Amino acid sequence: EKNNFEHFMLKEIYEQPSAIRDTYRGRLHAEEGIIRMAGVDDNLERFLNAKRILIVACGTSWHAGLVAEYIFEDLARIPVEVEYASEFRYRNPIINSDDVVIAISQSGETADTMAAIKLAKEKGAFVFGVCNVVGSSISRETNAGAYTHAGPEIGVASTKAFTTQITVLTLMALKLAKAKGSISNTDFHMHLQELETIPQKIEVALQENDHIKEVAFKYKDARNCLYLGRGFNFPVALEGALKLKEISYIHAEGYPAAEMKHGPIALIDEEMPVVVIATRKGHYEKVVSNIQEIKSRQGKIIGIVTEGDTSVRDLADYVIEVPDTIESLTPLLTTIPLQLLSYHIAVLLGKNVDQPRNLAKSVTVE
Ligand code: F6R
Repeated sequence: EKNNFEHFMLKEIYEQPSAIRDTYRGRLHAEEGIIRMAGVDDNLERFLNAKRILIVACGTSWHAGLVAEYIFEDLARIPVEVEYASEFRYRNPIINSDDVVIAISQSGETADTMAAIKLAKEKGAFVFGVCNVVGSSISRETNAGAYTHAGPEIGVASTKAFTTQITVLTLMALKLAKAKGSISNTDFHMHLQELETIPQKIEVALQENDHIKEVAFKYKDARNCLYLGRGFNFPVALEGALKLKEISYIHAEGYPAAEMKHGPIALIDEEMPVVVIATRKGHYEKVVSNIQEIKSRQGKIIGIVTEGDTSVRDLADYVIEVPDTIESLTPLLTTIPLQLLSYHIAVLLGKNVDQPRNLAKSVTVE
């Protein structure tokens, strides 16, 4: 069951290389330069004619939607809006019949997401589901879809569901970009080849586990924690903060790094750990200057950096390395140390990691 792992959550974190491979297997053909996804192929015109894509989801799945917004807009040049399903369903949203709605749900049973789907369908939109559970209510209610092949996720805190959702959404964005001609052939091939290397790179990121445990020991007694990231890694910062809140009950907030100076910087003192995603591709210099702002206010800095980084290392209290990749795929790597960090903090605090208080795996009530 848990094999040799102490908790399901840790097992599921370590399953990510194979879960991602299972999710792109049969879909990603890097050699031939083809992405096959029946649910997209069968409805290609709807996607290509869409004036915009609306993404509805809750929690971690909503964070995957935010990553997808960056990827779809960057690669496929289709405007994307991401909404909390619980807000969308009650605010008389503008939905047009040529909108494509993507609903993301690991369980496929989330009540608010289900209600948002029904509303979108009533207004004539085409609804595409990204679910992990085969035959789930949402997978049956949507017009078409693509499953993540994460396998059963038992730990209440979502881990492998998140990275496999990003994998499916990246494949979709690349496929549409190719069909629309908004990506060059060279770039398209590069993305496909790089996506194929991600499982191997996650294996490397997982090797930081012992080091991350030391970082966790150092900061386990913090009362608060900030997570910062920019661009594709801003949603990863939100997800990192959610993971810490859920299982360790430490208050944490995620912010786009540049928003610090508009308020949250007032919180910084020598007691405040700040986890900063500062990978080399993507606003690196800007993030380094954000780190300097924190340092000059005595904040404690944990940098998530690209292998071999030296600038952040000089400033930070700790750095955790991830392998290099293209910018749009960095979330698949930077998420890993954040999952492990919250896991170890929660274990060190003696919390019930797999079944945190007040939380259920499927939220079937609104
Ligand atoms: C966080 C978590 C929740 C779920 C949310 C949506 O770790 O598990 O935030 O992501 O309840 O659930 P699904 O994806 O099943 O619709």
